Amino acid sequence: MRIVMIGTGYVGLVSGACFADFGHHVTCVDKDASKIDALLEGRIPIFEPGLDALVESNVAAGRLDFTLDLEKVLPEADAVFIAVGTPSRRGDGHADLTYVYAAAREMAPLLREGAVVVDKSTVPVGTGDEVERIIREVCPNLTFSVASNPEFLREGAAIDDFKRPDRVVIGVNDDHAEKVLQEVYRPLTRNESPLLVMSRRAAELTKYAANAFLATKIAFINEMADLCEKVGADVRDVARGIGSDTRIGNRFLMPGPGYGGSCFPKDTLALLKTGHDYEAPLRIVESVVAVNDQRKSAMGRKVVQALKDAGGGADAHGKTVALLGLTFKANTDDMRDSPAISIVQSLQDAGVNVRAYDPEGMEQAKKVIQNVTYCANSYEAMDGADAAVIVTEWDAFRALDLDRMKDLLSQPLLVDLRNLYSRTDMEEHGFTYVGVGR
Ligand code: UGA
Repeated sequence: MRIVMIGTGYVGLVSGACFADFGHHVTCVDKDASKIDALLEGRIPIFEPGLDALVESNVAAGRLDFTLDLEKVLPEADAVFIAVGTPSRRGDGHADLTYVYAAAREMAPLLREGAVVVDKSTVPVGTGDEVERIIREVCPNLTFSVASNPEFLREGAAIDDFKRPDRVVIGVNDDHAEKVLQEVYRPLTRNESPLLVMSRRAAELTKYAANAFLATKIAFINEMADLCEKVGADVRDVARGIGSDTRIGNRFLMPGPGYGGSCFPKDTLALLKTGHDYEAPLRIVESVVAVNDQRKSAMGRKVVQALKDAGGGADAHGKTVALLGLTFKANTDDMRDSPAISIVQSLQDAGVNVRAYDPEGMEQAKKVIQNVTYCANSYEAMDGADAAVIVTEWDAFRALDLDRMKDLLSQPLLVDLRNLYSRTDMEEHGFTYVGVGR
């Protein structure tokens, strides 16, 4: 099977490398010459555990290559995947489909008879119809199919998610497209990964519904965490108590500083826009978006309050905190919509100085967070600070040297926004401990 992957972002590069690893011949195409040059030289433009080795071995095996030149590779392709960005359109939150439609228009005259164009980018309902219309407009006599195959991988766990998915969703409106996609995913179905075949529109909507539902779980547990703090219960007990009911499920019930990243914030907004366009209001998703926005700044205020409490009610103005972790979650360098951005803003609004460290995200963070002292490691960040604040659940923060922390901090105060530590342990070490929902 010859596959062309258009777009070498997270989804395109991971999917391309994994398809090659399944044994298909894959060419990844991008318009960004610097990205293609980097990939040809064996450099991976994103941070994703295991991706460099996967790319290297498949390039070496001759199954994976990279090019700027669509004309060279498209006429041979059985399946052409579109995996370009669909950022939020400025103003109304609708997904910006410019890159998807441009790819469709550009590929149309180069497609071979029977080619299956597969949309892997996250796109609103009806995008497949428009892609089909564009290709037909350019090539009225071509026989081709357009399918939807949304991707559910998570950053940081992308390869494993791709290779061992809970399900693969395939949205097709004709048998030929189904047959080709069955063949693309055949190596996976051997391990009994369920392939769910449905209509193209249902597949497109499934992607948004999945992300919105996961975002809902997080917003729900975050509100429960607030309630737990008020009533004197531990949210982790509540999460275990409800999550062990298989109807609810125990994943995505970890309270924290609110969800961020390149997907949940953008996709919930785009889904709201679709609901609005089709006059089907999505009130639950509306609330989730509002709860999460509010949560991010509330976390900054929580830190300020902890500083005040530790100072016997004195103003936090002029105090310094060490932020441990800046990325929206661990194992990524992605800063998009990271809660750290709002947290720093609320701290700075209260006159608090910020020292910060992140294992992988510093370069990206410097582009979006200013007036912060960036440090070389956790301990340098804590040197002289009045509190340490864990924002991201990096492994490097799970077993900090508590004695060393105590020596470095001006007072032993830990605000743990990911609940990595036990209150008892911390108090035994003489720390004032502030967790989430405990
Ligand atoms: C998410 C989905 O999980 C993927 O299935 C989907 O493919 C992807 O979006 C996408 O649409 O491309 P991702 O954004 O990489 O993946 O990250 P998640 O692991 O889902 O985390 C999202 C946010 O939720 C993070 O800020 C994380 O800290 C937060 N989160 C997650 C919690 O606060 N609590 C949890 O229990 C789980």
